[in-house]
Amino acid sequence: MEEKQHDRLLNIKTRGLREWRDPGVTYNRYEPTPYSALESLFQVYKLSKTDKMVDFGCGRGRVAFYVHNRFQVPVVGIEANERTYEEALRNKATYRLRAQHIKAPIRLVFGLAEHYEVEPEDNKFYFFNPFSVSTFKLVTANIMTSVKKKRRPVDIILYYPLPKYKKILQTKTPFRLLTKIRIPRETDKTKKFLVYRCR
Ligand SMILES: C[S@@+](CC[C@H](N)C(=O)[O-])C[C@H]1O[C@@H](n2cnc3c(N)ncnc32)[C@H](O)[C@@H]1O
Repeated sequence: MEEKQHDRLLNIKTRGLREWRDPGVTYNRYEPTPYSALESLFQVYKLSKTDKMVDFGCGRGRVAFYVHNRFQVPVVGIEANERTYEEALRNKATYRLRAQHIKAPIRLVFGLAEHYEVEPEDNKFYFFNPFSVSTFKLVTANIMTSVKKKRRPVDIILYYPLPKYKKILQTKTPFRLLTKIRIPRETDKTKKFLVYRCR
């Protein structure tokens, strides 16, 4: 299914890019995870009713709405770009018109991912290259603080994983690679998912 059709199905608008105006920022631009990639991931990697996903740098909310719709689980999206965040809020309103029957909450937070206080129920953390590796380090440290307070298995899902992100996880955290999910017919072999687990 095409990107446009998929957006239409969820009643949202998530296509396109948005660059940051200030070229000095260490935050990356908005670009959505392709729906075809999400389909490949979630054919293999399933969520259960007790899971809760956080998308760090959720952009217009595509991953959050997709996951909410497919698995009916609570989702959180954190976005630092004000205009993009407002678009995510508009998407939530239109998405909800067709998804009133799904009771799980959708929470969109305006702010920096590194300032988000990880909640004891959060257990699936999604990243599509939102920011620099130094910010990624802060966010993974926050995840680990939460896990130490409330022991539970948690996963980090990386789309289009950067070598620097992989290195942090492997050398500075107890997360270990659980699975690698490739996208059929994708010629760029770096466009894949890596799922890391901390047990
Ligand atoms: C590559 S997009 C990914 C969007 C979405 N996760 C997806 O996969 O469809 C990265 C997003 O992260 C946001 N971002 C960058 N730095 C951030 C930060 N420190 N805190 C929260 N959001 C941030 C950007 O504005 C952008 O919307």
